[in-house]
Amino acid sequence: MENRSRVMSRELLDIQKNYCCKINEIYAERGINRPLAFTQTFGCQQNEADTELIRGMLALMGFDFTDDMASADVIIVNTCAIRDHAEQRVYGNVGELSHIKKENPSAITVLCGCMAQQQHVAERIKNSYPYVDIVFGTYALSRFPQLLYTRLSSGKRVFDLDGDEKGIIIEDIEPVRKKGHKAWLSIMYGCNNFCSYCVVPYVRGRERSREPEAVLREFESLVRQGYKDITLLGQNVNSYGNDLGGKCDFPDLLRKINDIPGDFWVRFMTSHPKDATKKLFDTMAECEKVCASIHLPVQAGSDRVLQDMNRRYTAEKYLSLVDYARKLMPNLTITSDIIVGFPGETNEEFQETIELLEKVRFDSLFTFIFSPRRGTKAYDMPDVLTKEEKQKNFDRLLEVQNRISKEKNDLYVGKTVKVLVGREENEKNYNNEYTKQSRTEGFKLVYLRGAEGLEGQFVNAVIERSSTWALFGAVIEREQR
Ligand code: 5AD
Ligand code: SF4
Repeated sequence: MENRSRVMSRELLDIQKNYCCKINEIYAERGINRPLAFTQTFGCQQNEADTELIRGMLALMGFDFTDDMASADVIIVNTCAIRDHAEQRVYGNVGELSHIKKENPSAITVLCGCMAQQQHVAERIKNSYPYVDIVFGTYALSRFPQLLYTRLSSGKRVFDLDGDEKGIIIEDIEPVRKKGHKAWLSIMYGCNNFCSYCVVPYVRGRERSREPEAVLREFESLVRQGYKDITLLGQNVNSYGNDLGGKCDFPDLLRKINDIPGDFWVRFMTSHPKDATKKLFDTMAECEKVCASIHLPVQAGSDRVLQDMNRRYTAEKYLSLVDYARKLMPNLTITSDIIVGFPGETNEEFQETIELLEKVRFDSLFTFIFSPRRGTKAYDMPDVLTKEEKQKNFDRLLEVQNRISKEKNDLYVGKTVKVLVGREENEKNYNNEYTKQSRTEGFKLVYLRGAEGLEGQFVNAVIERSSTWALFGAVIEREQR
């Protein structure tokens, strides 16, 4: 299938880069040689990666970055639409922009991302939040320089939800990433699955994969820059390459990445169980730089609920995947997402989720109460449980998982594990002789003592204590390679 046409053409890229230069000139004429940008991101890692791309565009326009919203010339809020709670938080924060605009009327305020892609949100911003200058959705991401230029040159508010619904893949703009040794790398965009609860296919369009060569080039560049823990991102990485005419699927891509010289870990998210194949797990087991760690959202334990969710697997199929993977990789860590209170879910069906938890014994879970999203199939499906009953089930889920997490973490005590030492301090300050944060291959959080000066290095640590959320260890030696 023709994929090239989906990649932003050189011509379009040049047009946008030209807008970047013009923006730079506008600020220079105003006597501002290094304008300042502030960015804020809600939602998932994919959104973090999009913000890094926006920061890349801002860098081309000559912007520096600030952590102080009040001193910024451009303020970007990249939004999430996954649950109502996420949207309400954005509306709360957008209110804050009105104060900023009063203090600094020339500051440009921008709302973008998944939430902004929805027509009803754009309408509400247009009518009730006059101090938001630019609204654009995920489809228009590649046009951000043009939109900012239009606002600066015309003084009018700009709304852009259009664009090729398939979206254009942006290449050749270098994202501005956070300092450190962890990096995100988007390998694909969009989603084709239409789980009945999920807004993502509506706000991010259809699946489109980056060319493997482009992914490999970017990966190599990250390794050269010293990144050591690199996460490949996509809404469903297991369908990577479906639009590339069979030349490279996800396990093939992992194998090519594993062959890149250097000292790094590669991990990925998110995997859809319906597309997780034996080939994926075989490849993970064979590739030493691919972490033995997977985020495999199961969502529910009842086959009837799974069917209504349009997940296209059964609990048994899920369990057999986990069995297969664990036989190959006994140390595999598995995390998952669960939705409680999906419309129609009964207490008995919820009990099947608990039973699945006891069978799989996840390392940790992300748990959510169902939130109806406009435009999705589940939006007006009827409930059988009350809000209180759903909350009770939610609390029970956490209780069971917390016990399992603690039991799993206890197994590490006394063991030696390889970890990557982070830049972050132990900001929670518990057991505070363990001052540094680090991560295991399975992405378990380990607070370390004796790790000063070892930031960004792989070391061996012996685990001395455990809690539900973290491990605590002492560095015993630097990893010999
Ligand atoms: N309500 C609650 N949780 C949701 N998720 C996605 N859509 C919804 C919704 N409408 C959860 C799923 C998904 C994770 C990213 O968010 O568990 O895997
Ligand atoms: Fe990420 Fe989905 Fe939220 Fe968009 S709506 S930011 S894809 S979680």
